[in-house]
Amino acid sequence: MKEQTNSNLHMSRAGKTDEFYTDISMIENELRHYRNYFKDKVVFCNCDDPAFSNFWKYFQINFYMLGLRKLVSTHFEADKPSYKLEIIRQDDKVGQLSFLPDYVQTPLKGDGDFRSPEAIQLLKEADIVVTNPPFSLFADYIAQLKAFHKDFLVIGNLNAVTYKEILPSIMANEIWLGYNSGHFWFKVPENYEEKKTDFRIDENGQKWRRMGNICWYTNLDTTQRHEDLTIFKNYSPDLYPKYDNYDAIEVSRVANIPSDYSGIIGVPITFLTQYNPDQFEIIDVKSSGLLLKKNDGSVKSMYKRVLIKNIRGARHGN
Ligand SMILES: C[S@@+](CC[C@H](N)C(=O)[O-])C[C@H]1O[C@@H](n2cnc3c(N)ncnc32)[C@H](O)[C@@H]1O
Repeated sequence: MKEQTNSNLHMSRAGKTDEFYTDISMIENELRHYRNYFKDKVVFCNCDDPAFSNFWKYFQINFYMLGLRKLVSTHFEADKPSYKLEIIRQDDKVGQLSFLPDYVQTPLKGDGDFRSPEAIQLLKEADIVVTNPPFSLFADYIAQLKAFHKDFLVIGNLNAVTYKEILPSIMANEIWLGYNSGHFWFKVPENYEEKKTDFRIDENGQKWRRMGNICWYTNLDTTQRHEDLTIFKNYSPDLYPKYDNYDAIEVSRVANIPSDYSGIIGVPITFLTQYNPDQFEIIDVKSSGLLLKKNDGSVKSMYKRVLIKNIRGARHGN
């Protein structure tokens, strides 16, 4: 395994927009909610160079605490054959919560692409896939997980909910969002262009970028998605205008959803981070095209709206 200290070198070699490395605290804060899912399971991290991946590190450190049967990690190498790392449960170590298991490294024939036959074979043998995959391939990535009916917990961008590979599954309540979302800091490669905002260089010279709209996509049940969103506003036609071209009211802040409106309501896609399918039904998601007339008579096109309906028996509307 390569040393962590080479990380800048490696990241600058890769140097693509997909090179964002997840902080261990972000992984711990989400994964602590799913501990019960991992007992006796095979976990696959398929976009994870063990030299840099905190997903690998998290599962290696917590292997016996979680009761894993096996941990497998593969990663993409653009210019040379890649390799896989594997930890297999040793029965005499079960219950030794702090035992740090060793791994076996095996060469792969190919480059470790998550779509390669070798990676797909490992996917088939896995129970749960957990990683932060390349943003640029996110649609293909989720499509593959769905095709192989795998359980997963992966980091993505909230805007990806509108992808045709994802939206139908969100609407059918087959995929949902995890506990944490919002802005998060990620390590970025040495050659990453410096930014005025949401960018810093730490005391070791490591560059970091803060990115917004980050969330977790999963099909592992969460307790959060069974909790009602607290809504307390009352509907009135003056406060909640209807779109010009769609029979729904515009609510630009999730907290302002009227509790007593039974018609269709348009809300920003951040709503999905608090969506309880027993409280609301998703009617549609529109990337653009919903028109709203402003007081001065001009018409504004609304960006990314989820169209929802309160299914708890609200009074007003149609
Ligand atoms: C957003 S980064 C996250 C890396 C790591 N999973 C983490 O969370 O720190 C996505 C990683 O996927 C890798 N990658 C790009 N294309 C890939 C592919 N086709 N198959 C597997 N990994 C790929 C990138 O090199 C990059 O390291």
